[in-house]
Amino acid sequence: MSSKTNLTINPQRLWDALMETAQFGATPKGGIRRLTVSDEDKRVRDWFKSECEKLGCKVEVDEVGNMFATRAGRRADVAPIAMGSHLDTQPTGGKFDGVLGVLGALEVLRTLVDMGYETNAPLMIANWTNEEGSRFAPAMLCSGVYAGVFTPEFAWSREDRSGLRLGDELARIGYKGVHKAGAIKFSAMFELHIEQGPILEAENKVIGVVTGVQGMRWYEVMLKGQESHTGATPMGLRKNALLAAARMIDAINTIGMDHLPGVASVGLIENKPNSRNVVPGEVFFTVDLRHPDEAVLDKMEKTYRAAITKIATSLQIEITENRIWNSPAVKFAPDLIECVRHGVSQAGLKTRDMASGAGHDAAYIARVAPTTMIFVPCLGGISHNEEESTTLEECAAGAQVLLNAVLAHDRSFA
Ligand code: GLV
Ligand code: MN
Ligand code: MN
Repeated sequence: MSSKTNLTINPQRLWDALMETAQFGATPKGGIRRLTVSDEDKRVRDWFKSECEKLGCKVEVDEVGNMFATRAGRRADVAPIAMGSHLDTQPTGGKFDGVLGVLGALEVLRTLVDMGYETNAPLMIANWTNEEGSRFAPAMLCSGVYAGVFTPEFAWSREDRSGLRLGDELARIGYKGVHKAGAIKFSAMFELHIEQGPILEAENKVIGVVTGVQGMRWYEVMLKGQESHTGATPMGLRKNALLAAARMIDAINTIGMDHLPGVASVGLIENKPNSRNVVPGEVFFTVDLRHPDEAVLDKMEKTYRAAITKIATSLQIEITENRIWNSPAVKFAPDLIECVRHGVSQAGLKTRDMASGAGHDAAYIARVAPTTMIFVPCLGGISHNEEESTTLEECAAGAQVLLNAVLAHDRSFA
């Protein structure tokens, strides 16, 4: 088929798919709670599998639950071009983070099937397990296994905060597949995603051409003080783990402010025994440091460690601290970025280049295959929030650019 073919995706059909699957784990505030490998995740996986099979795709699952739906192309001798993202969400997640990338890809395949368009290479949709990392740390876990960053055993052994293991949960919902992670091959991957930040909206642009992802590091901190009676223990004689945590959280925030555009956050905290008349004896919290420059990230890490050690010492608190994840800064593949640029200009949309502040499966996949991403705006730049909002037109623009970019790349297999 000619390279001038102008296929158009169906915006309403894409929107309907987003709204239909948003029912799996729907929250009263209009968001989604679909923690990875939960019953809700099983429901959306079953739906996705069945919709792909209706298109004639072969759907395969690997040993860490990554799903791959493949539509044959004209050539059987080349690996598929993949499009992928994730269907899991944050505990109070929105309807678009990750989901748009998978359902936008589904809309691409539906459009091609409708038009009877045969690509040169096979096309594939990947749904990566546990991108969010909120139930099982770290984030991007199973795209990481695919890319050889983690072993399957490591992934299976991850425990949620109630002690359930990812491997057992995968088996329970029927998605611990037979294929070895990394064995189902593709030649390139495009990931469509919402920006999760405010830049596109502020500049009135519809598409972000993503050139890379900033470096990210996650840490866990355990503080041990001494439980004692709040009424009877004088202020000067306390070992208050929560007070130490409060000072540390403030110090971590300052590290972010001192290393802009870097960011430093504490998002999860557990206080024990969490009783109003007990001086807190034990606190667990997590730390997330990010910066596009690895050297600055090294400096942030050093400053953070020095700060928490000093605070712990001054309050007589025992501290255990571990870096549990390091995802270095990534640059995406120039030839795929060119395909995206081509796709944007074909669609006549306003665009700008940008780096991603959020982590994405694409960051790990870039280690094993040429990879890039396409961003669309989200209202107020708000994400990881039930109010996350992207319009039908913006979702459609992203899926159209995804289709155009994939077809541009596919022409190299003619
Ligand atoms: C993933 O959503 C991350 O950026 O933490
Ligand atoms: Mn995401
Ligand atoms: Mn997310």
